[in-house]
Amino acid sequence: MTNLAVSYNKITTTARPVLKWAGGKTQLLPQLNELLPPKLKVNAIKTYIEPFVGGAAMFFNLYKNYDFQNVYLFDTNQELVILYNVIKNDVRLLIKELANISNEYFALSEQDRDEYYYLRRDEYNAFDKNFDVNKYSKDFIRRAALTIFINRTCFNGLYRVNSKNKFNVPVGKYKNPRILDEENLLSVSEALQIAEIKHCDFSETLKYADKDTFIYYDPPYRPISKTSAFNSYSVNDFDDDEQIRLKNIFDLCGQKGALQMESNSDPTNYIEDLFFDNLYIKYKIHRVSATRIINSNAEKRGSIRELVITNY
Ligand SMILES: C[S@@+](CC[C@H](N)C(=O)[O-])C[C@H]1O[C@@H](n2cnc3c(N)ncnc32)[C@H](O)[C@@H]1O
Repeated sequence: MTNLAVSYNKITTTARPVLKWAGGKTQLLPQLNELLPPKLKVNAIKTYIEPFVGGAAMFFNLYKNYDFQNVYLFDTNQELVILYNVIKNDVRLLIKELANISNEYFALSEQDRDEYYYLRRDEYNAFDKNFDVNKYSKDFIRRAALTIFINRTCFNGLYRVNSKNKFNVPVGKYKNPRILDEENLLSVSEALQIAEIKHCDFSETLKYADKDTFIYYDPPYRPISKTSAFNSYSVNDFDDDEQIRLKNIFDLCGQKGALQMESNSDPTNYIEDLFFDNLYIKYKIHRVSATRIINSNAEKRGSIRELVITNY
């Protein structure tokens, strides 16, 4: 086992998201960084919580610059939680598994690669979904490797499941997809050493929030028009009742003294819909500019405003 041991050196970290993930925050980081709480900037925050972790762009961004004693990353997507725990616990074995997949893939003709994708997708969909993801198992290594392989080779890096929770995104068109990025996996593994990564609902945040905590919420966005229902990350949609339930957690964590930031879509881009302005009337609402897919045609991108809500 000794040759699989990893030594970590935070100074050199360049960790960045492992997956393409809908709503990824990488492009917005410069604007979000401007809005971080001053208490964080003087390194007086001990605990960081990201209850909708997705691709974890904000966590990697903060990890580089600040020292936390505790980090909690949550998501209801099982595959994400499995992946991050494998990167944390077994990154060398994951790299080995991905190297095998990558070698098999690139040895094939282009046509056979498409077939290989569908075979791996079938394998992926055959994994058990009804078990406690929070109980770590070595069996997760293959599953995590397939999450990366499929994310890198499927259409637009989408994550979409059907009503039976089966992943159904078709193969993408890439000449040379980067299936294994060893250096980044090692950096991500280093960053995750301080994190507890849990499969749970965002309301779990309440358990850990206190006056030395910073929380960044990036929930599935409320669709900004009737045709842009881009918030189907899992079988359960995040509807307005969920947005209201989230606002209640935001209130309660704030009462415990936590500093909080939330991203969301801005319904006023197109219509006079003050849903969030009214819901978060007690808080500061900033508007930032983002480049997003703006309708169901994935090719059509545009600049739109997004909300950043803070309680400080
Ligand atoms: C907008 S994405 C987060 C994007 C992320 N900030 C990034 O940079 O990639 C929202 C995430 O919330 C997760 N999610 C949906 N409902 C949830 C819930 N009730 N509790 C926790 N996570 C949830 C989804 O699986 C998805 O990964």
